[in-house]
Amino acid sequence: MIDPPIWALILHGGAKEIAPEQEEANRRGCLAALVAGQQILKAGGHALDAAEAVLRALENDPTFNAGFGSVPNADGQVEMDAALMDGKTLAVGAVAGIQGVRHPVSVARALLPEMPTLLIGAGARRFAEQSDSPLYGAELCDPAEMLSPQQAASEAAESAGHDTVGCVALDQYGDLVAGTSTGGLNGTLPGRVGDSPLPGCGFYADNTLGGVALSGHGEAISRLMLAGRIMHELERSDVQSAVSAALNHLNRLTDTDKTDAGAIAIDAGGNVGWDHRSPHFAVAYATSQHSPQVFLKR
Ligand code: GLY
Repeated sequence: MIDPPIWALILHGGAKEIAPEQEEANRRGCLAALVAGQQILKAGGHALDAAEAVLRALENDPTFNAGFGSVPNADGQVEMDAALMDGKTLAVGAVAGIQGVRHPVSVARALLPEMPTLLIGAGARRFAEQSDSPLYGAELCDPAEMLSPQQAASEAAESAGHDTVGCVALDQYGDLVAGTSTGGLNGTLPGRVGDSPLPGCGFYADNTLGGVALSGHGEAISRLMLAGRIMHELERSDVQSAVSAALNHLNRLTDTDKTDAGAIAIDAGGNVGWDHRSPHFAVAYATSQHSPQVFLKR
């Protein structure tokens, strides 16, 4: 009989098309972020710290559509969404359409113990100003600074096929945390919000069942409540089957060109699962029993 993993960590760098010249950057970025979280979990740290560390690393890497790599909206501005959920307390901290912070996920973390679950736009930025302590480190900046040189050339951003980043972590105390961070969709309507800051759509975590984070077209993911579906599937299926079964619901949507999605999950026993309905899905995972592995598709 094999003992269950003591800790587990899985992340994704987006359900998207990865051009051959971008493969190495995606592998390297995912691996670096995984190592940042793995070190915390291995040392007996908490899932919340590990998930935030992973997402901050991905937000720093312009390869990914989050934080510094965020794509611009139709006005050429960066508006970001991010969320964290604690599976022990079911607390949610999320921000939508936030501007002028390098680490939206750290604003989401600062919101986690507060009553509101979701702050938007100027209200989210104001909250970040109040909570930008070294402990949380939202790192306030000029909104224009968030456009990396790659993203400023929006045609190049489109061809790079960016999407959301996400993470699920299980620590040795049995706590599960799920998180997301995104710059949304390239050239989208200003003010548009996708699945990433919406619990039950882009993410969910419950210590009794598991945790999940998604990537892809936020409208499709939200209309199908994919995170919620995976959680329900986890009540009766193994984690890999739960993810794949939920993603199959994408077939119900007729606008087939806008239904790309991918999901990562960890169940309460530390088993990992992931799947996608997109050309590629950058994924990395490690557990106390499995050394780091990186994939660009299933
Ligand atoms: N999945 C990110 C978005 O649609 O905004």
